[in-house]
Amino acid sequence: MDILRGDRLGKPAAEVSDYTTSIAADVNIVKPVIEINKAHIVMLAEQRIITDSDGALLLNALNKLDPNMKLDPSLEDVHMNIEAEITKMVGENIGGKLHTAKSRNDQVATAIRITLRQYLLEITKNLIALRRALLKRCAEHLNTIMPGYTHLQHAQPVTLAHHLLAYYDAIERDTKRLMNSYQCVNLCPMGAAALATTGYNINRIRVAKLLGFDGILENSIDAVSSRDFAVEAIAAMALSMTDFSRIAEELILWSSVEFATAEIPDEYASASSIMPQKKNPVVPELIRAKTTHVYGDLIAAFTILKALPLSYNLDLQELTPHLWNTCQITLNSTRMLTGLIQKTEFNAPRWLELVSKDFSTATELADILVRKFNIPFRMAHRVIGVLVQRLSSEGKTLRDTTPKLLAETFLRATGKRLAVKPSDIAEALDPIRSVKSKTVQGCPSPSEVARMAKERRKQIIADEVWLRKKTHSLKKAELKLCEAVEGLSKHALQKP
Ligand code: ARG
Repeated sequence: MDILRGDRLGKPAAEVSDYTTSIAADVNIVKPVIEINKAHIVMLAEQRIITDSDGALLLNALNKLDPNMKLDPSLEDVHMNIEAEITKMVGENIGGKLHTAKSRNDQVATAIRITLRQYLLEITKNLIALRRALLKRCAEHLNTIMPGYTHLQHAQPVTLAHHLLAYYDAIERDTKRLMNSYQCVNLCPMGAAALATTGYNINRIRVAKLLGFDGILENSIDAVSSRDFAVEAIAAMALSMTDFSRIAEELILWSSVEFATAEIPDEYASASSIMPQKKNPVVPELIRAKTTHVYGDLIAAFTILKALPLSYNLDLQELTPHLWNTCQITLNSTRMLTGLIQKTEFNAPRWLELVSKDFSTATELADILVRKFNIPFRMAHRVIGVLVQRLSSEGKTLRDTTPKLLAETFLRATGKRLAVKPSDIAEALDPIRSVKSKTVQGCPSPSEVARMAKERRKQIIADEVWLRKKTHSLKKAELKLCEAVEGLSKHALQKP
């Protein structure tokens, strides 16, 4: 007999049960659902709601379940599959007690949180690895001068280390957002039952502790109907993917023959079926494209929630696959990007060549006029603008500026005379000197970038400590649950 529909509803048409089942996504929560059942049974026995002996029989059966068990879609979901399996193993007299004082509604919300927190820890670990890779490459390129861009036009010289550290900082904030979302995820809905708790004298705190949660979701209606924790996590991952996609875009651009400033590793590229010369940057292209799936997941999750009346509605079942999709894409993309960052070859001479043939130190030159000759910045900006216009129309670069040319331009633009020495302007014409002369906090000079990188190493260590603490506390709870399960089994054997 169908233990859910019983005599109340007949057997559903196959196409209806195919339409309503959540089995495809439930493969992500089989193990958590087994663990939740164990914690719940331990609590029911401790509270004398079921006998130790019934508890022991149920726990022994739960212990025998394989987390990779085959799930039958005609039973709707993993929750009913597990109950049906246990009932098959121990009979209805015992198996029929498994679902005392709980509902699929609190159970599914709890299971999703358990799987999600594992994903969050795993992704955090991988984000830390990515940050380590970025800091390593940063240390190698403290003196690699490159043009910094605004509007994708050469703006001012920076270093590749400075640019990579900008990536790092974005990823560090992404890690923080995931870590913050963990706090909201790691709360336990169990005991809310369908929506209104239960008349049995259950102990919600005990179940939460056995499952490694930091606390309970107190209001039972909120506990079964809220999925903001999932949206928050998806949003945090959507921001990570946005940062990955921007980095991927630059790696693609830099791999072009026009830039020729980076070469991605062969194993992250693909060939053309017709053009023998091609090396296509397919991994960064797919990071860029997969980001859009995550945005889709985010908007789908928001949209499912926005007009949903309290408390549980089956609409919530449709949100969960979006969560797993985002988690898996983000995890895989983090790993791909780490490999790319570790193994991409950056072409320092090419960067220098690009920055040496441009006007990217023009701001420096204007600033020197301000500092040395005490003229307003706006006037200096105008003079150098005229100079750039003249040089570029003659096919020259800023490097071709001479004191004579500058004085002439100054006279033409302002009607005033200026006595410039070569040493006055040398620093402003050399991109390397220009970068090294900067001293402001956060600037591209090698010493400042090295200082920033050193600070960030400390943050990595702090985040690793957080990760270890969370992992350890989940392991501890797992052991406690095992002990409680074993204790009850033994106890019951003595007093059958
Ligand atoms: N399969 C459901 C889900 O994933 C579990 C809860 C179903 N609850 C219900 N009352 N039909 O959300």
